[in-house]
Parts: sequence; structure tokens; C-alpha cells
Amino acid sequence: MAPKGLIAGNWKMNGLRASVAEIEDLKARMAATPVACDVLVCPPATLICSFVKAAQGSAISIGGQDCHAALNGAHTGDISAQMLADLGCSHVIVGHSERRADHGESDADVQAKAAAALSQGLVAIICVGETEAERDDGRTIDVVTSQIRGSFPDGATADNTVIAYEPVWAIGTGRTPTPADVAETHAAIRAELVALMGEQGNRTRILYGGSVKPSNASELLTVANVNGALVGGASLKAEDFWGIISACQ
Ligand code: 13P
Repeated sequence: MAPKGLIAGNWKMNGLRASVAEIEDLKARMAATPVACDVLVCPPATLICSFVKAAQGSAISIGGQDCHAALNGAHTGDISAQMLADLGCSHVIVGHSERRADHGESDADVQAKAAAALSQGLVAIICVGETEAERDDGRTIDVVTSQIRGSFPDGATADNTVIAYEPVWAIGTGRTPTPADVAETHAAIRAELVALMGEQGNRTRILYGGSVKPSNASELLTVANVNGALVGGASLKAEDFWGIISACQ
């Protein structure tokens, strides 16, 4: 049986205190209409507390966008998995391509962050994806499977680990791979997960991310081995995010 869908919003470096209204709006929509999938919002660290509070009594989970590999210590500006768990987060995104590119994070760094997340009872959402040049070279599957192998933590299970496939060239560009391309890459990711985890690999969620919006969500979410979406820009407004959540059957 396919795993239950997960629609996750990655707010990136967006949102101010007033943005809590979007969570209240989403909560009201979810109270009025049952949804078929799990729903997660990952705000910037500054908003985690208020979003956790606003989401109380709803099925909305709150997560972080990154964590340090250590649980505490002299790491100015960083946030640990322990701190996220302490605030009431259930998930944390690790290895987003913007972190890999802007902060030079390697697969080994991502693996250590994912291990820290698991050690604190958080679900690690491990991001992978090829650049446009890698895609043009026909290396998409090589790049993605190698990132998964290199970023995969010990102790990963279908319950504590999620893979998000986000082609770098599709992020924030309005461009998406064709459903056939998504199917091919997700099938390769599924095979890699089964190789790494055995039967659990069949139950591990694989999300697609990159320019998902209400108008293309149904098409992308019904592709084989797509178990949900990681949504950037279209997760910032409850109305748009709801359009994607509603498309998840
Ligand atoms: P967009 O949905 O804005 O393309 O961002 C995708 C993403 O990077 C989510 O993590």
C-alpha cells in the first residue's frame, strides 16, 4: 500500500509575526473539510513558536528548515534538532539545495544533520535534486541516488525519514519536469530506498518539490511513487496551500 500523502510547506526566509494569520486560516479550512494527507508547515525559526501555538488542536504539524549536526554548543546563529523538538516541531528539512548551494553543505553534512534529527525523535526530510547542467548531461538519476546514499543516516526507517526530490532548476522558476520524468526519477529513488532499507523502502515517503502550485498539483501528485509535495512559494498563502492539500487524494 502506498504511504499516506504528506504536503509540506517550506516557507524559506519569508514571514513576519502577522503571518500567523495564514496558519489560523489553514486551521479553519482543515477543521471544515477533512483532508486525505498529512500537513506540515516549516516556517523560519523566528515563527516556529507562534506557529506551534496557532496549530494546536489541528492536524497541522510544524517543522524546522535546517538543524545543526550537534545538539548544542558554540555555533553562533545555528539551531539544533534538540531545540526544534523542544519547541514542538515534528519534522526538519535537511540538505535543501539552497543550503547545499549557499552554505556549501555536503552529503556528509546532511547525513550528520539527519542523524541529529532522528536522535531527537524528529522526522528528517532529506532533500536531493540535480542542477540543470546535470540534467542536460543525462546524470539526474546518478546524482540523485548518490545524494541519497551519501545523506542517508543510520537508523532511517519509513516512519522517521522522508525523501524530497527537488530538481534545482524547478525551484521557484515555474518550470517542472514532465510527469514521465518525475515518474522515472521517483522510481529510481524508490529502488535506491529498497536497496538501503529493504521492505521499509517501499513505505518511505518520496515527495516532489519545485514549482508545485494548485494548478499542477493533481497532475504531479498522481504520478507513481509521488507521496506528497514539498512546496515553497505556494505554501505562503493558506488559500494556495489549501489548493495543493485538496489535490492530495
Ligand atoms: P517552490 O515551490 O517555490 O518552487 O520551492 C520549492 C522548494 O524549494 C521547497 O523546498
